[in-house]
Amino acid sequence: MPYLKLKADIFTYDKKTLFHAGTEITEAALKDIVSLNNTKHFKSYTLMQHESIKKDLIGCISQPPYQWIFSLGDEYSALLKFMGKVQLIQPVLETVDFLKHYDIYTYHHTLTVFTLSTLVASYMIDNYQDHISEVMSSPTHDIGKICVPLSILQKSDPLTRNELDVLEQHPVSGYLLLSHYNKDTDNIAAVVARDHHEKRNGTGYPYGIHLDNPISEIVVVCDIYDALISLRPYRPVPYDNRTALEVITEMAMRNEINADAVKVLIGLNRKDKPDHRKIVLSKEKRGTPPRLNNYRKIAEDDSST
Ligand SMILES: [Fe+2]
Ligand SMILES: [Fe+2]
Repeated sequence: MPYLKLKADIFTYDKKTLFHAGTEITEAALKDIVSLNNTKHFKSYTLMQHESIKKDLIGCISQPPYQWIFSLGDEYSALLKFMGKVQLIQPVLETVDFLKHYDIYTYHHTLTVFTLSTLVASYMIDNYQDHISEVMSSPTHDIGKICVPLSILQKSDPLTRNELDVLEQHPVSGYLLLSHYNKDTDNIAAVVARDHHEKRNGTGYPYGIHLDNPISEIVVVCDIYDALISLRPYRPVPYDNRTALEVITEMAMRNEINADAVKVLIGLNRKDKPDHRKIVLSKEKRGTPPRLNNYRKIAEDDSST
């Protein structure tokens, strides 16, 4: 992992500080994060057996456009059955539950991206049913947001440079939290949390790596799509579905995100659910982006460095 100096503390949902702001994330720091976890074994729990999580998840995908994306007949039941096998270790499940009370948007977004990524993976990953541990990675991609103060997470005005730096540390915070709990810095959930704002062409953050892990790439596309069509503090009106699909199409054509995952989403949005391999991406633009959008905008009067 490339060098990085933390801009903000990293702490668990039950307020144990793992690292203080200013810590340099070196190989030695990564070893510490694993050894700091002296609990021998965490019990695993089935995510979908957690009553409120299952109910909330079904609620999230009953809203448009998800209600027609998931109009899949028997395939929908098979998907839920498969998701029913996904297990999370106790502190990770508790962190997902904590998110519900901390920031309801991130919680709903987490469940939606999990469900949508699983569906997209079912079209793109051969024998996806054998990849449960990878599917497990999407309900935790934004887990690092528990380390971002609500004053930043829910701010509607443009952020200061310093606030944006704290917000954009959430992939690293998620990576460190999940490495800590799993006692493994290479586990797929931690890697997906770390890389979910990276791009194929290296224009993402926090490291600007060239993303080429199929599971991370599916989560990236579903993450962007869900964020675009959702109400966000920094953008009072969401993108309509057509415009959101045009935005992700454009990003795929710039090689920022995975084109096949975008094609799967386009196909799922059509009534006849065509095979994504027959879909051709087009530059045609008919949608109108929302007028007000402070996403990643820095406050003009920002005097912080
Ligand atoms: Fe994120
Ligand atoms: Fe996200």
